[in-house]
Amino acid sequence: MSFSLIPSTFCGAQVHLGVTGSIAAYKALDLLRTLLKAGCQVSVTLTSAGQRFATPDSFRALGADPVYAGMFDPAATAFPHLEPGQRAKCLIIAPATANILAKLTHGLADDLLSCQALAFPGPIILAPAMNPVMWAAPATRRNWAQAKELGFVCIEPVLGEMACGDTGQGRLPSTDILAAQVLRQCSPQDLAGKKILVTLGPTQEYWDRVRYLSNPSSGKMGAAIAMAAWLRGAEVTVVRGPVALELPGLFPEHNVTSAQEMLAACLDLAPSQDIVCMTAAVADFAPVPVDSVKVKKSTLPKSGLSIPCKPVPDILAQMGKNKRPQQVFIGFAAESTTLHEEAQRKLQAKNLDLILANRIDQEGSGFASDTNEVVLYAKNGRQETWPCLPKTEIAWRLWDFLPCL
Ligand code: CTP
Repeated sequence: MSFSLIPSTFCGAQVHLGVTGSIAAYKALDLLRTLLKAGCQVSVTLTSAGQRFATPDSFRALGADPVYAGMFDPAATAFPHLEPGQRAKCLIIAPATANILAKLTHGLADDLLSCQALAFPGPIILAPAMNPVMWAAPATRRNWAQAKELGFVCIEPVLGEMACGDTGQGRLPSTDILAAQVLRQCSPQDLAGKKILVTLGPTQEYWDRVRYLSNPSSGKMGAAIAMAAWLRGAEVTVVRGPVALELPGLFPEHNVTSAQEMLAACLDLAPSQDIVCMTAAVADFAPVPVDSVKVKKSTLPKSGLSIPCKPVPDILAQMGKNKRPQQVFIGFAAESTTLHEEAQRKLQAKNLDLILANRIDQEGSGFASDTNEVVLYAKNGRQETWPCLPKTEIAWRLWDFLPCL
C-alpha cells in the first residue's frame, strides 16, 4: 500500500510471529517490517525447517525481540513455550506448512512453535503456503476444515505460480493482507456484526469518448474509513469511483465511473446496510454527451467551447428517502466558505445523522491530502471540531464517535 491505511493506534501491541519451513518464509521478514511500522512489538519463533529458509539473525536485525530458535536453545529462558501466550495479543503463523496444520489440529506439541501455539490463549492466525497438490491433498483439506472448527483464524493461500513452477492455489497472501488480519485481531471489535457501506473517490462524467468532468478526489478519506471499520470488525462494502488508490482486497469493492452508476450501486446496497458513509466526491453536473467517439477539434466552434450540462442525482438524498430508523447515514461536506451553515443545511436536506465538514481551500485539508481538518455536526446537536489529523486518525475517531449519535 503506498498510502498507509493503518492508523497509529497499534503502538505497543504485542504480536508473535511463527515461521515454518516453506520457501515463502522470506516473506515473513516483510510482514515483520510492516507490523513494526504499524507500531507493534513483534517476537518470532522459527521452526528448525523455517530456519533453512530465513535465519533468526535476519529477524533480529530487523527488530524482532525476542527471536526463539528452539525449545532447548541454551540462550532461552526456562519457559519459552509459555511466554508468547502470556505477552502477545495475537499469534500468526506465516507461512504455515501442511505439517504445522496437521500438528495444531491434532494438539501435537513436539517443538517450540507447536507448544507455544497450544499454550496461546488468544487468537491464532494460520496463513498456509505450500505446493497446490499438497494443499489439495485430502488430509490437508480435512485439517484445514478442522482448523476452522477449532477457531483458528484461517487465511486461504492464493492462486499463482509456485517456486517449483507449478501453478495453483498455494501462495502466501500479500503482506498487506496478513498484516491487516493481525491488526484486526489487535483492534476493538466494537463494529462486529455491522454492515457498513463506504463510497469513495470522484465520479467521472463523460462528454465524449475521452473527455470528462470530474474533481481531484483521491479516495484516501473513504479508504481510511473503510479500513478502520474493517479492522474494528465490520462487514465492509466499498463503492469506488475511479481512483488510483489500491485497497488490500479485504472487502468487496464495486467499481463505478459516473454518478448514475454510483447511484445504482448505492441504491442496490443501501437497504441491507446498518451504516452508510458517503465520502465520494460526486461530480455535481454531467455534460450532455455529444457522441460516443472522440470529438474532433476541427468540428468545434473556433470561438470557444460551451458544454451543456445537466445536474446528476443527489445519491445521498435519494438513499436518505428510504432510510430506516435504525440506519445511520454519514455524509461529508466539502466547503470553501460558510462551512457551518452549509454543513447544517446538508445534514437536514440529506436526512443524515452526522456530517463531517472540511475546508477544501486550506493547506493540509481536503482533496488528495493525507491529512484533513474536520468539524462534525450530529443530528442530535452534538458538534466537535478536530485539529488537522492524518486521514487514518480521523477515520478511527469517526468510529469512536458513533456511540454519540
Ligand atoms: N453527494 C451525493 N450526491 C451528489 C452530491 C453529493 O451523494 N450528487 C454527497 C457527498 O458524497 C457528500 C454530501 O453529499 O457526502 C455532500 O456533498 P457536497 O459536495 O459537499 O455537497 P453538494 O450536495 O454537492 O452541494 P454543493 O456542491 O452545492 O456544496
